[in-house]
Amino acid sequence: MSVAVKICIGTYCHLRGAYNVLQLFQHEIEERDLHDKIEISGSFCMGHCENGVSVEVDGKIYSVSPESAREFFEGTILKRL
Ligand code: FES
Repeated sequence: MSVAVKICIGTYCHLRGAYNVLQLFQHEIEERDLHDKIEISGSFCMGHCENGVSVEVDGKIYSVSPESAREFFEGTILKRL
């Protein structure tokens, strides 16, 4: 079973670094060869624009920043594998 990760590409999340978060996740997936285990996709506004970049993991929405993205990847996404 794979983990579904959606990154918001709406305006607010874009301004807070959604693209950087996406790049970091993709880099981690590449390095760890997790292509068949983690499914990344983009999403329109999730209605949680007030904090960081909205990232949905298996249906739950989190706020991530480019600075916290690696820690989030290891602590939240990898834990679900
Ligand atoms: S723009 Fe990302 S949650 Fe609204």
